[in-house]
Amino acid sequence: MLRIEDLSIRFKAGTPDEVCVLDGIQLQVKEGSFVVVIGTNGSGKSTLLNAVAGVFPPERGRIEVAGQDVTRWPEHRRARLIGRVFQNPFSGTAPHMTVAENLALAARRGLARGLRWALLPGLMRQMKDRVGELNMGLEDRLESEMGSLSGGQRQALTLLMASWVRPQLLLLDEHTAALDPKAADQVIRLTHQIVTRDRLTTLMVTHSMAQAVHLGDRLIMMNKGQIIFDAEGMAKKSLRVEDLMARFEEVRRDEQLDVSAAKMLKALYI
Ligand SMILES: Nc1ncnc2c1ncn2[C@@H]1O[C@H](COP(=O)(O)OP(=O)(O)O)[C@@H](O)[C@H]1O
Ligand SMILES: [Mg+2]
Repeated sequence: MLRIEDLSIRFKAGTPDEVCVLDGIQLQVKEGSFVVVIGTNGSGKSTLLNAVAGVFPPERGRIEVAGQDVTRWPEHRRARLIGRVFQNPFSGTAPHMTVAENLALAARRGLARGLRWALLPGLMRQMKDRVGELNMGLEDRLESEMGSLSGGQRQALTLLMASWVRPQLLLLDEHTAALDPKAADQVIRLTHQIVTRDRLTTLMVTHSMAQAVHLGDRLIMMNKGQIIFDAEGMAKKSLRVEDLMARFEEVRRDEQLDVSAAKMLKALYI
């Protein structure tokens, strides 16, 4: 469960370049809900996920994850509750460590130091099984360096690591955008499989309208730091790519109106 109340973040506050990147966001996500997040470039999607993960403290507002107020928690403490996968396949794993070593790190998440050794017996077996379920032939590459794998293989493993210990919340930020179409499809299939099987509460940012339509049980659209569209249940199910394109077109038209109004004002007064 995720509850965001009146979350606001400004960058370069107090300077002429000040931007209000999140503007009073209200969002409640039910336990087990899979929310797709779309919006134009710069609309605040990554900032929203970063704020939830604790990358920067909010100026105003409150964030609750699984019933705990995490607003003042630092990023590393929130990481016990939150799994993340980023766009860049190189950012989620340690390239010079083996696949098994990377997975072992993920398996210890949230465990007290003294208990970590207790994991070891059976861990290799479990790794073979869970990596085997990815269906990418990686169960025979547990001793390979992570850096020797393709982007798609790394993102699949990053996803597995982020969900190895069931997270209270999974954050995916355009995690297939840097992959070729075939690898992206594969990682999206795995995402669907893991999120629905483990009923993970998930926020997934995507640029792909096809992904936005086919995945998840709720869709939100952001613009200028606000949520401007929110569809759940049947309303989400019946959305088509054309509906989303029409929404984007509306936003673009409004922006053009803003720009031409500003030009007109300038022409009048300058
Ligand atoms: N650390 C930062 N400092 C200043 N401006 C930032 C920073 N991070 C993001 N921004 C600005 O905030 C806005 C929203 O960015 P972002 O959340 O990355 O958008 P999105 O993920 O929707 O494309 C953009 O205008 C971006 O330039
Ligand atoms: Mg982004």
